[in-house]
Amino acid sequence: MTAVVEETGLAARMKTGSQAEHTEAESSNFMNALLKGEVNEQGYADYLAALRPVYAVLEEVSAQLANDPVVGTMIDPGLDRLAAIDADLASWAPAGTPDVSSGAVDAYVARIRATLDNPVLFVAHHYTRYLGDLSGGQAIGALLGRAFGITDGTGLSMYSFDAIEKPKPYKDGYRARLNELAVSDAEKDAIVDEVRIAFGLNSALFIELGRNLAQYQR
Ligand code: HEM
Repeated sequence: MTAVVEETGLAARMKTGSQAEHTEAESSNFMNALLKGEVNEQGYADYLAALRPVYAVLEEVSAQLANDPVVGTMIDPGLDRLAAIDADLASWAPAGTPDVSSGAVDAYVARIRATLDNPVLFVAHHYTRYLGDLSGGQAIGALLGRAFGITDGTGLSMYSFDAIEKPKPYKDGYRARLNELAVSDAEKDAIVDEVRIAFGLNSALFIELGRNLAQYQR
């Protein structure tokens, strides 16, 4: 019985409901090349620079919703990635953060900001990036470390959460908090739809980066 309850909880619905979109994001040309260690320093710096405004708005909205009666329980400054991204950019792009003005980034940022009008939808964006960083992100960090021979973590702070001892129990707690959110069935449906949209916005960003792959070849 318990298993059935877990399968139908919001956390499980967010995961299964976005499986196709996860696979699509994962298998984009840019991500594929990144995972194979074929993207050079410029390419990884552009990737971080593209994600920077996304995390800036995630963290700005998080701060505003920290005391929200419904979604406030999901907010945790221990997840914040902006400072880590800036530290990493300093090592991948020492000459300064690349200017990656981008339609995909602008659309993603606007979509996150718009959730201020309907905070339950913010949870979808929070989940997609932060639980991703604590899941596949950990593998991406390890792969990058191997590809670039990084042994001291320099440039890979994005994947290292000082405030979180172990990803697994943290993710279990996160899913439990998702399942306890006081949201209606219609809101749950809307959150699952928004997760799929969030993955689509990530894919769009990777497709844009993928157009520069020739330039990013190692
Ligand atoms: C590029 C290569 C990627 C790989 C290899 C990858 C791999 C994985 C794996 C193995 C898991 C399951 C981990 C677990 O059960 O603890 C996972 C979960 C997840 N990934 Fe990815 N991923 C990738 C890209 C992405 C991207 C681009 C996003 C979103 C922007 C993302 C978001 C997520 C989320 C939200 C979860 C948590 C699912 C859940 O348990 O509810 N992943 N990923």
